[in-house]
Amino acid sequence: MKLKTLLKNKTLILSVLLSITAYHSLACKNMCVIGAGYVGLIAGSKFAQMGNNVICTDISQSKINDLNNGIKPIFEPGLQAIVKEGMHQEKLFFTTDVEHAIQTADIIIVAVGTPMGKDGSSNISALINVIETIAKNMQGYTVICIKSTVPIGTNKNVLLQLDEHCAPGALYDLVFNPEFLREGSALKDFSINPIVLGSNSQKALDIMTELYSPLIERGCPLVHTDLTTAEAFKYTWNSFRMTRIMFVNELACLCNTVGADIETLVTSMSMSEQSMPTKNLKPGPGIGGSCFPKDSRALAHTARKVGERFCILEAVIKADQLHKQKMITTIYDLMDNNVRGKKVAIWGLSFKANTDDIRDSVAIKIIKKLLGNGAIIQAYDPQAMKNMHALIPDICYCTCAEKALEDADILVIVTEWQEFTHVDLKTIKTKCVNL
Ligand SMILES: NC(=O)c1ccc[n+]([C@@H]2O[C@H](COP(=O)([O-])OP(=O)(O)OC[C@H]3O[C@@H](n4cnc5c(N)ncnc54)[C@H](O)[C@@H]3O)[C@@H](O)[C@H]2O)c1
Repeated sequence: MKLKTLLKNKTLILSVLLSITAYHSLACKNMCVIGAGYVGLIAGSKFAQMGNNVICTDISQSKINDLNNGIKPIFEPGLQAIVKEGMHQEKLFFTTDVEHAIQTADIIIVAVGTPMGKDGSSNISALINVIETIAKNMQGYTVICIKSTVPIGTNKNVLLQLDEHCAPGALYDLVFNPEFLREGSALKDFSINPIVLGSNSQKALDIMTELYSPLIERGCPLVHTDLTTAEAFKYTWNSFRMTRIMFVNELACLCNTVGADIETLVTSMSMSEQSMPTKNLKPGPGIGGSCFPKDSRALAHTARKVGERFCILEAVIKADQLHKQKMITTIYDLMDNNVRGKKVAIWGLSFKANTDDIRDSVAIKIIKKLLGNGAIIQAYDPQAMKNMHALIPDICYCTCAEKALEDADILVIVTEWQEFTHVDLKTIKTKCVNL
């Protein structure tokens, strides 16, 4: 199909069964990719490989000329072959005529750069320009899919911008679809990484899911969520990975100094990943128990003693302290900073569920602070009341969770015991005076 014949016919569904690859797509889409850099080129050529008609556009005339002349603007293993194949099959085109590409597209992918500003903020000026161009040129119903990495909250403003400049008669939905590829293995990553689709439109989520169906059928995990969560997903993914890498980097320096073997340590940490996989991570009130607080401090102390920096571990310890403090501040905020004479129900005293161990439990900090300021504590824990009683005898220990709630002004759930996870918080709210 020639570029000029790719005019959009909104009522026509192309049911072309593909022969160019092993992928099979029932309805190919007319797509426009704006920004033919690492992300745009990979996405554009992969979507073309899946049988869609893809026009890649870029502001750089020389980049488009190079691509049309078979000169690859970037090095990425396997990219040249897939681009060549897409062009040969007349599924992949390159042009600077962005207006025309927008007019003919059912789906527009935005993959322009969002470089870091001097203050660490993201420069989204290219995105803003592109959105205005899209709004003024789109026709019929179009799904606009942002792949550029953008700060949390950006897409809410993009929606406002689209509303403001939208061409008469044009309809659209916005999807944020963060990209997780790594340069060097980008083509493979595109085909195996999770597909995160954030939108407030089910119709757009369905269309994007259909677009990705060849990858989903091959096992790519799919996440449907809202725009803000999808934006946060991308930053979380990178920051969490970076945190782990920096942990190993700093640990390697310490190992070098004390004569421990970093490779053995990293291997053993991957074993511990099996007993505590990332999927089991749940937010809580802070870290307690007999091991984590003590051992992390001991390792940080060793690093200081031998003159090595372990900033990330020091930061984790500090973050934990501040987090526990924040739990207490939140209780006080909810009680208008006055706890004197107020009844506080506390569910859970052990440092985590399924143990009676209260060492370094956040509950101790919370109870001592509240007691010191004249609150009345009504506590319940399935296993840890005996231990807590030995440490803090002068509070009311209740025989069940329900009893602890009687006439309470506030309920604080400290430990995630199974029996607390099934309660109906709305019913509880009617029982607590202040909630
Ligand atoms: N490179 C990666 O590994 C990677 C991975 C995931 C996400 N991302 C994110 O994807 C986005 C793109 O990254 P990249 O590495 O592909 O950037 P890039 O610089 O390689 O490509 C961006 C392209 O957009 C073009 N462009 C800029 N303004 C334009 C405009 N107004 N109209 C048309 N084209 C325009 C540029 O000429 C350039 O070719 C960024 O937000 C980045 O953070 C990058």
